[in-house]
Order: sequence, then C-alpha cells, then structure tokens
Amino acid sequence: MCGIVGYIGSRNTVDVLLNGLTSLEYRGYDSSGVSVYDRDDGEIKIFKAEGKLNNLKEILKNDTTLKTPGIGIGHIRWATHGVPSVENAHPHTCNCGNLVIVHNGIIENYLELKSKLENLGCKFKSQTDTETIAHLIAQKYKEEQNLTNAVRNAVKELKGAYALCVMHRNEPNLIVAARKNAPLLIGVGNNENFIASDVPAIISYTKHACYLNDDEIATVWANKFEVCDLEGKIINKRVEILPWESQTINKMGYKHFMLKEIHEQPDVVRNVLSNKLIDANTKIKLDEVKLNSDTIKNLSRIEIIACGTSLHAAMVGKYIIESMTKIAVDVEASSEYIYREKTTNENTLVIGVSQSGETADTITAIRQAKQTGAHILIITNRPDSTMAREAHSLVPVNAGIEVSVAATKSYMAQVLSFYLFAIYLSEIKNTMNSEQLINLKFELLKLPNLVETILQHEDEIKKCASKYASTKDFIYISRGINLASAYEGALKLKEISYINATGYPAGELKHGPIAMLDETMPVMVIMMPGVVYEKILSNAQEAKARHAKLIALTSSNDPKLYDTFDDIIKIPQICEMLSPALTCVPLQLFAYYIAEFLGKDVDQPRNLAKSVTVE
Ligand code: AGP
Ligand code: GLU
Repeated sequence: MCGIVGYIGSRNTVDVLLNGLTSLEYRGYDSSGVSVYDRDDGEIKIFKAEGKLNNLKEILKNDTTLKTPGIGIGHIRWATHGVPSVENAHPHTCNCGNLVIVHNGIIENYLELKSKLENLGCKFKSQTDTETIAHLIAQKYKEEQNLTNAVRNAVKELKGAYALCVMHRNEPNLIVAARKNAPLLIGVGNNENFIASDVPAIISYTKHACYLNDDEIATVWANKFEVCDLEGKIINKRVEILPWESQTINKMGYKHFMLKEIHEQPDVVRNVLSNKLIDANTKIKLDEVKLNSDTIKNLSRIEIIACGTSLHAAMVGKYIIESMTKIAVDVEASSEYIYREKTTNENTLVIGVSQSGETADTITAIRQAKQTGAHILIITNRPDSTMAREAHSLVPVNAGIEVSVAATKSYMAQVLSFYLFAIYLSEIKNTMNSEQLINLKFELLKLPNLVETILQHEDEIKKCASKYASTKDFIYISRGINLASAYEGALKLKEISYINATGYPAGELKHGPIAMLDETMPVMVIMMPGVVYEKILSNAQEAKARHAKLIALTSSNDPKLYDTFDDIIKIPQICEMLSPALTCVPLQLFAYYIAEFLGKDVDQPRNLAKSVTVE
C-alpha cells in the first residue's frame, strides 16, 4: 500500500512532504520517512520513524540541522517485506548514500536481484524488497551518470509492482518517478511540481495533474516535467484539471472519523439518489453507463469482482440484480478471479466494485476481464481512480472522502448504486411492471429518513454493545439478501476490535459451526421480515437450544421475540429488498462502540491500510 510524495519548488519542502503524507496516512502507518536535499550543505538528509506519522513529525520538529531544502521525497509504509522498523522504513539508499528512493509495491524477483547485487559488493541494510531497487539503480547510474536513464534501465529488470520516486545527490534539481501496477501522479504547479500516490496529497497546492501510466518514467524539475517510455521515447502527456475541491477534512466534533462517517449516511443516501432518481415516476439516469440497450437486452450474465467490504456490497448486488432483472450474477473475490480459468466474454458484463478504485487485486482482475472482451463497469467512490479511468462504464457512488480504514458510508453508497443500476437495467429489459418499479423507487426515497431514525437510537445500540464488549468470539447469521450484512457486520467488528467474528448463512450453522456454541458465544441474528424470516428464527432457536446469547436485528414488532432473544436491536420497517441499506447501520455502530469500549484505535486499526495497492 504505502503512500509516496515528492516535491520540488520553493515552498518549505518538509512541510509539503508532511502535509502530503498526512493525507496519505490511510495507505499505511507502519513507519514513515522523508529525504531532502539541503542546498546549503549539498547533502541528502534522511529522517525516519517507526509507527504513526506523528513520530516522524516529532523528530523533524526538533531537528536543527535542516536549512534550505527545496527538493524532497517522503513515504508512509504498510510493510510487505520486513517488519515495521526504522531500518525498514523508506527512503532507502545505495551503498554511498547518494541515491534515495521511496517505493510502493512489491518486487517479486528481489531475492534473485539481491544476490546478484551482493555479488557486486552492495551491502543491504534492511529486509525490504525496496532496497534492491536502490542498489540496482545505483549500479545503472555508474554506467552513464544520468538518473532518468538509470531508473529506466533498472525498472526493466524488475518483476512485480512499483511506484517510485528517486533522488540523486549529483542531480539535485530533479526527481525521477516511475510506475507499474501502482498509482502515481504528478501535480503540476507554478514553478513547482509534486509527485504523489493520490490526489489528497497535492490538492491543497494544485488542481492540475498528470497521471502516469504503467511503464512510464517521469523526470520532474521545478518548472517542467518530461515523461518517456521504457525505451526512452518521449510521451506527450495530458495535464488534467482535477474534479476535486481542496478541503480540510476534520472530525466535526466526533471522536472518530468512523463515527462521523456513519452519521453522514443519511446525506450520502440523498447524494447517491440525487440526479439519478428524480422521483418515483421518472426513469433512472446513469449518464456514465455506456452499455447500449441492445447489449443490455441480450445480456445473459454478469460477474461482479471486488474485495473486502466492497465484496459484501457485491453480494447484495447479486441478489438485487437477479431479482429485478433475472440476469444470472456471479460474485467473486478479485484475488480468486485472477488465478482461475476465465469464463467471462464479450457477452458478459463485469462489474468491479471498489471504494478507492486502486485496490491492486481488483485492478488486475478487471484488466484480465477486459482482455476476455467483457464490458467493464466500475462502481467506485473515486471517479478519477485507475479503475474508473480504465473502465468502459462508471457508476460514481458520491459518498465523499472516507477517512476511516473501516468502510461504512462507502458500503452504503455502493449498495444503493446497485439498486439504481438494477432498476436501470430492469427499465430497459422490462423485467418489472411499472407498479413494482414505482413502489420500489418510492421506498428508496424514504431511506434517508429511515437511516436518520436508526441514528437517533444510537444510545440503545451503544448500550447493547457495552454488554458484549468482553466477548472473545462472535457469530453473525442471516439468510437471503441480508447474508452479506452478516458478513459485513462481522468484518466491521473483526477489523476494529480484533474480536474473532464470523458471518455464516443461518441455515449452515447446523452443518458445523453450531459445535462452537455455548453460553460464551454471542450470535447476532439479522432477520428482517420477508421470505426467510421464519427460517432464520428457527435457526436462532437452534442456537438458543445450545445456550448461545442471542441478539436480534430486526424490524419485527413481535413481542414473542423476547422469549428467544437476549437483546433486540429494532430498526424501521422497509421492504426486504431494500433492508440491507438499513441493517448495515446498527451493525456499524455496534462494532464501533465495542471497539471504543475496548479502547482500540478505531480509525487506524493495526495491520490494515485503507487502500490495498499490493496483490
Ligand atoms: C473495509 O472496511 C476494509 N478496510 C477493506 O475490506 C476494503 O473494503 C477492501 O480493501 C477493498 O477496498 P476498495 O473498496 O477500495 O477496493
Ligand atoms: N515492499 C515495500 C515494503 O515493504 C513497499 C510496501 C508497499 O507498498 O505496501 O517496504
């Protein structure tokens, strides 16, 4: 994952690098580091710290050796090779320390390269794959003393993924950047230029950017930049105006970003629906979907690929699309899709779902799907991301910037986008009658207020969470369209509280997991009135018979539920089809308050990063 920043210009370089890294901290927080060329001393200086970025900020605050740096590179790390430590923190250097590098990605052939470089006398100081690149470029530099050519010749030998920024003491007026399968962009300013893994690092300085593509190498000076291919041929690049507003992202009084983002959901629902669903009698408008109506009419199969929370949104999407359009839908984790025989083709629509649009597994999967001839549609919160740029069609989800590593409002927006897309397909394929469609749209328009109602009962959910904060394990069960809600609820709890929580289809409990049940094992039962309600209730009874503690998440008013359940989280009534847009909210709050009671680092849980840009 990792975040990279580079700066060349006349601003306070350390400030620019630290501001950039602060906005990229969602990409990792195992360690951080910066390298700056101090024009007064003619030296490259390196500062590194283990752990959160604040540790590096402390070191830099107290440093008195820095004078007038005008060029520098910075890094925030999510460790892939080598433990989180100062020694493994980037920037890395070659033997003589003249060259410094920051890297995002994984070099798959680093062991082979490392042993060759060791034979040439290179001394390795870290366990990272990245250090191999530093030594390799330094070897190439010896050949013709030109940093751009050295980087170009070195990357030809790398297998895997990289976004790189490199500086050399002998060429103190430029930074060389390169990318393959990891994002990198150049922020173009007035007599200053920036390099970054993502827009938030540069947006408060410039709205002009040039996205690098795979196998491109950029040489960046303060007043210009030049991009070439692996053979050194100059490429004419387009500078785009970023569709972003510079904004200060803060917690608005909430203790954590996660809580703030949960509370933003009524407005997120309004945003997603606005412009696309005008009223119950008007057809859905999806301007960036480029499928023509004949293709839609003949569409026989859809495959949805995604990871993590987005995969759970995809599971809800399968139910929605199949019910509304009768098109067969398969859902697969991107990391599984990549390594198996492809069955997608030009008659298949492949939907990639991704909050960030930069998840490496999903990017690889959609690229492979594209090669099979399939039409690629991306549901993403980042219309400027790699996935969005490579897709044929787009459904932007408009959830706004999500800072907390645990996804909440983006999941809500993805689920809603599936409703809109399924209705859109259905209106073209005529698979639902107009009365059904009007009713559904009418119900959709009620969602913002219903989500608000759930949030008004936050204290009850908090009280319920407090009772279960000391548990070591948790099971979440449901069936049908809310099975994905069970998976997502369990994932939320797992990732922010580190409690072992697992989602199961309620009917599967008896085929194995029931063996784990006793009075120490709470079971969250998501049972919204509808076709599977009675069945889930029976499955809950089976768990009760094994003395498990039971919590019901339901809109049912049946007073008899208190005979079976220890706790009941009540939510407003809604048709079963739309219920996942409500059940997710109390599950997010439940996980949040358990993690909060346990004093966990809710927004930046251990071992995780928000954008997983390595496979
Ligand atoms: C969500 O809470 C997780 N942190 C994670 O599972 C995430 O959903 C996954 O990494 C996919 O990310 P994407 O949506 O940006 O592709
Ligand atoms: N492989 C490098 C490291 O472990 C970069 C990791 C990454 O980009 O996630 O330091």
